[in-house]
This record gives sequence, structure tokens and C-alpha cells, in this order.
Amino acid sequence: MIDQSIKPVNEQIIELVKLLNDYSYAYHIKDSPIVPDAEYDRCYKALQELETKHPELIQKSSPTQRVGEKPSYGFVTVPHTLPMLSLDNAFNDASLIDFNERVSKLLSTSHIDYCCEPKLDGLAISLRYEFGRLVRGLTRGDGLSGEDITSNIKTLKSIPLTLRTDTPPEVMEVRGEIYMPTEGFERLNATAIEKGDKVFVNPRNAAAGSLRQLDPKVTATRPLVLCAYSIGYIEGGEELDSHFDSLAILNNWGFRINPLMEKVQGIEGCIEYYAKLEAIRNELSYDIDGIVYKVDSIESQKRLGFVARAPRWAIARKFPAQEEMTQIEEIDFQVGRTGAITPVARLKPVFVGGVTVSNATLHNKDEITRLGVKVKDFVIIRRAGDVIPQIVQVVEDRRPEDGYSVIFPEQCPVCSSDTEQVSGEATIRCTGGLACSAQRKEALKHFVSRKALDIDGLGDKLIEQLVEMELVSSPADIFLLKDKKLDLLKLERMGKKSIDNLLNSIEAAKNTQFNRFIYSLGIREVGEATARTLASYFKTLAELMSANEEVLVSVEDVGPIVARHIRVFFQQESNRETINLLLNAGLVWEEKPESDESLDLPLTGKIYVVTGSLSQMNRDEVKNRLIQLGAKVSGSVSSKTSCLIAGEKAGSKLTKAQSLNLPIMDETELMAFLSDFEAY
Ligand code: IVH
Repeated sequence: MIDQSIKPVNEQIIELVKLLNDYSYAYHIKDSPIVPDAEYDRCYKALQELETKHPELIQKSSPTQRVGEKPSYGFVTVPHTLPMLSLDNAFNDASLIDFNERVSKLLSTSHIDYCCEPKLDGLAISLRYEFGRLVRGLTRGDGLSGEDITSNIKTLKSIPLTLRTDTPPEVMEVRGEIYMPTEGFERLNATAIEKGDKVFVNPRNAAAGSLRQLDPKVTATRPLVLCAYSIGYIEGGEELDSHFDSLAILNNWGFRINPLMEKVQGIEGCIEYYAKLEAIRNELSYDIDGIVYKVDSIESQKRLGFVARAPRWAIARKFPAQEEMTQIEEIDFQVGRTGAITPVARLKPVFVGGVTVSNATLHNKDEITRLGVKVKDFVIIRRAGDVIPQIVQVVEDRRPEDGYSVIFPEQCPVCSSDTEQVSGEATIRCTGGLACSAQRKEALKHFVSRKALDIDGLGDKLIEQLVEMELVSSPADIFLLKDKKLDLLKLERMGKKSIDNLLNSIEAAKNTQFNRFIYSLGIREVGEATARTLASYFKTLAELMSANEEVLVSVEDVGPIVARHIRVFFQQESNRETINLLLNAGLVWEEKPESDESLDLPLTGKIYVVTGSLSQMNRDEVKNRLIQLGAKVSGSVSSKTSCLIAGEKAGSKLTKAQSLNLPIMDETELMAFLSDFEAY
């Protein structure tokens, strides 16, 4: 920041406002920040200090003026200068082609340029600027008049308080969509869940709820963004002939426009654009529900005019809906591999997000309470991309009289063992363990799955039959199937050939890898990545099985909860027996001999923990270098730790290392230490 103290205060203030608005434009509109956040904060603070001392010099365009007082009369309804129209919808290519034909006929040409814009799923807004200064923001309302939410929209950094031009039109009304990006929406809901507040159903509702806050201070905390999509009205300014060009000007004047907008030729261009956007729809950082096509020439737009409340020059081609309403017919309970009992809603089939959905998980008891859902309720189902369908809301207005509450079973619905809820966990579990056929089936499905033993031809249906016919009850039984060929012939769709294939892949699977074996055991919280880490840390199965929790937590990424699950698993007699049976059945993997190479390295046998922030190398680089030098790097401090590397702001790990009197190195010491090993 430049030292400005020699300049008169009013000049200092004007300069700081300009500087901050430039920084903000680069950050919020152009997505390319020109200074670090800290520099922005310093200038902001300097401005605030000057403004506190000289309130008479406060500029209307100052960023400090975004959050003001509550409007004293709530939201007042104000007529729009020109109506805010809606759009006709096209749900398929045929309707889009019809639209293009209508337009071509009326304009007597088939050479039409269209501006294609993602249809953001938020709320339409109209912003009025007089001589370059924001004077009012109105919601769409009924299209003829809307609510004045000026004090709320001023808190959005993507809405310029003054236009970035020296020659603004006398009056200009900019129209656009205010939306909430997905990440911000998820963060907002996560905080609401933590606080026990109501969660929003989707980003659109969250945006609407945030804009309707009576206190602008609340709106200011919500991650809302405005994207401009047209000039609704202009007076005393240059009129352009291309809608696309007018958006580029809006961008220069301080508005965000959608970078995916494109000008295309004819209907072919429109159809291509649709395919392109539909393919990336679910990767975008915000929700879109279709494409808006607009005839690009403003002159042609004027010639085409309107019908009823929609323009003839634009159309919205909608994507298949990602939200639909349907009814819950029943709620069943499924028992998973670890005994977790999951309520599953059986739905009247509904087409949503491109597939027919007839089941949706309700996760656990808390989720049922959160949604307030009853059997027979009408609910909103959301399926976005490949994400599993979710019930997002109960439609309370349509609650039928024969609806009833969900009662969680006290006995396992499959094996009738008691259920239990571990305190602090939302999940209710069957206590039956492998005596429960549902848990058995799931454990077996996991055991043979692709990332575990990867037994080809042993699919879910076959496992279910094998368990029901009592041919298999534990993983080791799979390897005894070769002596039960006659029984196998009794299974549905199993001929001699398929049995031979199956038995061959079972034999082949006996040669496995240590990490796959660990994963296949289905230890709670031990996924594929943890299994890999464990396999590279422990040289033998015996070592892993006898490791206590202290040793386990010294493995990177193994926290106390996972360590506990691992320990409990290997202590359980039945699990030890299963493992023995598997080994007896001939399951093998190559055990890693301690390589001679690593024995020669300077840090072989040492265990390091890295914590705090480092400035010269990042933590991963330090870890990799230590591993290269033969050391092990662990995620937590224990008496086995050889040394703690503590960067800035090191926390509990440093305290623990100090209490254990362990050697500790700061970053300078570390750099000197590593430089001793440059030869390696
Ligand atoms: S143009 C006459 N452009 O869609 C022009 N609308 O279904 C009317 N919307 O109320 C609007 N993105 O809230 C237009 N690029 C875009 C849009 C867009 C989203 C919304 C807007 C409008 C609704 C009409």
C-alpha cells in the first residue's frame, strides 16, 4: 500500500475507494484477483479509519456502504419501468426447431444469430442506475411490479454501486439472476445443521430466503452472486445492435456475465450448444436448469415483439428436471455390512434427472426427524448427475390423512437380534454380527468385490442364493465351493461351464495382495486407501493383527477411531478364526521383505511427524523427502516418534511432543538437517 499521508484526506478517501473497487472488480467480476486478500483488507481498514474520522467525506460508492440499516417499512412494492417478462419453454429439440421456424418466418430469413446463455437457477432481479449510480433493486414480483430489496442487494460484491464508466447513461436498468453457488449453499446448510437451524432445500430457495431477510447484515453473510443477462431499459445512452455486445459492455461496466455465453449461427448452433452444456451441467459450480436462446440482433428483437408475457425472440430450452414430486408408498429397513439399519423409502416410480427412481435412502433416524417425513407423504426427489436420489423435502400441503409415522425397529428386521444405537452416532445397528444373514450377505459381497478379492462371476444375486441355500456363510466357505459342484448345479442359471468359470476365478483370487486382503475384511472405516497405507506400514499380517492402538495411530491418516475399530476387529475371536480359515484355504500374497536398499538409507528406522505450516517446502514435500531418506512419516505423535517437525502455529502435536520430551525441529533446523543429505 502506498503511503498517502501527505495527500489531503478527501483525495486519500477517493483513491482508496477507487483502488478497492478495482480490486473487487478483478476478484468478483473477472475471477482474476490482482492483489492478495490481505492487501485488500489493509486498504479497507485504512479507508474505514479515515471515514470514521471524516464521516462527511464518505463516498456513496465506498465498499463500506454495502451493509446499511434495515429498511424501516420492510419491503415496499414498486412498479417496473418496463415489465419483467417470462420465457416460453421448450422441453425438446422439436419445440426449439418450431421456435426457430417461427422466428425465421417473421424475420423472413433463416440466417439468424442466437446468443446462447446458461439458464441460471436463481431469482430474477432488476437494478436501476441513474447517472451511473445504483438507486434501486427490485425483485421480479408479478412481472409488473416487484419488491424493493435495495438494501439487501447492495451487500452483494458482484453488484456495482457505481458503474465503471465516465459516460454512464442517464438511466439504465440491468436485469440478471441472483444465485447461490453450490459450494456456498452446502456450507450454509452444513452450518445450519450444526446449529440445529432449518436447512434450505436447494440453492434457489437458499438464494430467495437470503434476499428476503429483513436485515441486510444477514444477507451480507450469504454467498450470493449476480450474473447480468440483459439491459432491460436505457435512456440517454448508446443503443447497440447486438445483445451479445451489450453484455460485453455490462461486463466492462462492472457486472459479472456468464463466461459460457456464446453467439452461434442458426438452429444447428443452438442444438450443438445444448449438447455441450448438458454434458458439463453437473460439473458447474452452480445450478442451471436449461439454456436461454435469444435472437442476438436488438433490431430483430424489436420487430419480433411479445406475445402475452413472453418475448417472441427468446426461448428457454429446459434440461430434464432434477427435482420431481412423488409419493412414499412404504418405508423399509435395510441391514448393511456393518449392521447399520438404513431406512429406505419405496416410492411411486418417478422420472427425474434422466432415470426412473423408485427407492431413495433416508440415511438414518436423524434424517427422518429432520425431514419430518411420514409414510404416504408426498416428497420432492432430487437426482443431479450421478448422485444418488435424495428426498429433499416433504410437501406438507399434500399430506394425506392415512399417513403415519415411521417406527424404527427394536429388533433387526432380518435376524430379530436386538438393535442398538451407540451414543454419539446417528446409526442404529443390528447386534447380530455374522449371525445375521443380511450382514453375512453384505460382508461376502464386499469380500469378493472389485477392490477386494475381485472374484469374477460372483455377483450380488449369486451371493444371495449361496447364503440362502446355506452353501456359504463365511468368506472361507467360498474356497470350499469346489467340493460342492452338485449343489452349485441346483442354482438358477448355473450350468457346468459357468460353474467351471466361477471355480477358476475363485482359485485365481487366492493369489492376492496384502492391501486387498486387509480391505476385503471389511473392518469399519478401513476403506481402500487406509488398507493400502496399513499394508505398506506393516510388513506382515501378524504384525498388523498384534498392533495396539498406539502403534496404529502412528500410521499416517489412522486416527484414534479407526485405530480402535482395527484393534477391536482383530481382537474378536470369530474374526481371527475367519482369517485362519482363509489362510488355510490357501489365500496368499507376497509379503514385503525389508528391502536392502531402504536399510542403507540414513533415516531408516526413524519415525517423523510433520505439523504446523512451513514456508520453504510444503508439508507433502517434506514428507516425501523424509520417506526418500528411509524414514516413516506418521500422522500422530507417540513415544515411538523419533522427532517432531514443527512449523508455525503448531498445535496439540507440539504440546504432546514436548510433554513426551521428544526431539523437536523447527523449519530452519529442518532445512539445515535436510541439506546434510543432499547426496541421497
Ligand atoms: S432472459 C425476456 N436470460 O429465467 C427475457 N432469463 O424463465 C427474460 N433466467 O425470470 C429473461 N438465466 O429469472 C434470461 N440468461 C438468462 C437467464 C434467465 C436465468 C431466468 C430469469 C427469468 C426466468 C424465465
